[in-house]
Order: sequence, then C-alpha cells, then structure tokens
Amino acid sequence: MNKNYVFADAQQAQEWERLKAIQAEFDPITHRHLERLGVGPGWSCLEVGPGAGSIMQWLCEHVSASGRVVAVDIDPRFIIASNSPNLEVRCLDIAQTAVETDCFDLVHARFVLMHIRDRESALTNMVRALKPGGWLLLEEPDFATAMPAGGDTTKAKMVERVLEATRQLYVSMGVEPFLGRQLPSLLQDLNLQAVAAQAELSLAPGKSLRAKIWRMAVEHLKERLLETGIPTENDLDQFIRLTHEETAWMLDYATVATWGQKRY
Ligand SMILES: C[S@@+](CC[C@H](N)C(=O)[O-])C[C@H]1O[C@@H](n2cnc3c(N)ncnc32)[C@H](O)[C@@H]1O
Repeated sequence: MNKNYVFADAQQAQEWERLKAIQAEFDPITHRHLERLGVGPGWSCLEVGPGAGSIMQWLCEHVSASGRVVAVDIDPRFIIASNSPNLEVRCLDIAQTAVETDCFDLVHARFVLMHIRDRESALTNMVRALKPGGWLLLEEPDFATAMPAGGDTTKAKMVERVLEATRQLYVSMGVEPFLGRQLPSLLQDLNLQAVAAQAELSLAPGKSLRAKIWRMAVEHLKERLLETGIPTENDLDQFIRLTHEETAWMLDYATVATWGQKRY
C-alpha cells in the first residue's frame, strides 16, 4: 500500500464508487478544458493519476489511432480495463520517476498534485515530459470556499467543524487543501507561457454527487477526523445524515483549472 496517498487504504468497492462519483461530477468540466486546448487525432497525451480512468479513456478516443495515451498512477488498481490499442498504463510515482522527455502534446492531472508532498519534483517531471509547445492542464481544489449555506446556526457550526477538521487533517498528512489558487504562479515559475486559469464554484444540496463525494471522504477519514479534536462523533454522524437531505446546502470547494504551454 502506498502510504503517501490519503485514500490508499480505502476499501476497493468504496474507493471505486468515490472515484466514479468524482468522474460523473467533474468530467464535463474537464472535457470542456481539453476541447478548448484542441486535443484531437494524433496527439500524444500523458494522464497523471487517472483514478478510475474516464479521462484517460476519453483521451484515447479523441487522439484516435494516430495518437497515443500514457497513463501513470502510483496505485493503478482502480483503472477501468481498457483494450484501447493506443493506451499504455504504467505504475509509478510521478514525484519519483520521470517519464519520457519532450514527448507529449498534453500532460493532464486532476485532483492529484494536492496529494503529492514533493510537488516540485512532480511538476518538474510533468513539464519535462511536454514537447515544446505542449500544454500542461492541472485541475485542483481550493478548500477556502467550502462552507455551509443556509440552515440553522447549530447545524452550520457543526458543518464548519467538519470542514475545518478536514482542512487541518489534510495539512497534517501533507495534502495541500489550498493548492487551487497557487496553480497559476506555480506554472509561471516553471517558465510556461500563455498561463491562464478558471475556477468553478458549486452550491450543492444533499443527495447531489458533491454531497456523495463529501460523505464518502468523511466516512473514510472518520477516525482521523476525530483525532483532530475538532468535531465530535455526533458531528460526523450528523454531517453524514445531512448529505442525504435535499434541504441541506453547501458552497463547495472551488475547482481551479490552470493551463500553460512549454516554450519552444
Ligand atoms: C483523487 S484521485 C483522482 C483521480 C482522477 N484524476 C479523477 O479526477 O477522477 C487521485 C489519483 O492520483 C493518484 N496518485 C496519487 N499520488 C500519486 C503520485 N505520486 N504519482 C502518480 N499518481 C498518484 C492516486 O492513486 C489516484 O488514482
């Protein structure tokens, strides 16, 4: 098991379901970014941390037979079986192992970099893999915006405690909950050009996919959240119950997409 990844010890079935919920909620946004960058037949793409692999599969279809997709994951056991002839899956830690140099038209990672302690090495390896003129597209959350929306004050305070515990737990585990806003500067520091960014914000009720993603994370992290000393067990149980209630709304974390091009 890879101890550097916060969900590495999740049960197979639960993690698979959580990854599928992430895909269902965020893939339409990612597709828009990939289409805007012009991904098409003949492109060589590197997908870092594909999770269950829906974006990897989308790339295989869009680059067609003349293109190529390499997917690298430290824990590839959740990647959907694919018989795409233009796909190669590798098991590796992007912070530890470089892939080919000056090779890819696109390097993409979503909700991956926040989990990597040695972000500098991971980013260096991603940029090294790009061809001159190739695009790096990163999508990461920024938890600053996550907060309860409406409802009574007692419930709102309970939700605040769970959110604060999540942020503090992540920081203590080397996960960066505020990475989203830092991405544009990071890409400029890497000497990429045409750097731009877009943030998506969602106001979501219980029973939504967002609520399900939160519920599954809190259920998985329950013991460690309690150890922060911020929420009580009752807070966590109540939070989980609220994720099933259509009247409980939450302003979610912002998802920041940032892209930039390797100079010629
Ligand atoms: C939250 S999941 C996101 C999955 C997918 N990108 C998505 O958005 O649907 C994070 C993924 O990154 C992978 N990962 C974490 N650390 C990694 C590393 N150092 N190198 C490569 N993959 C890593 C995990 O195994 C997991 O598949």
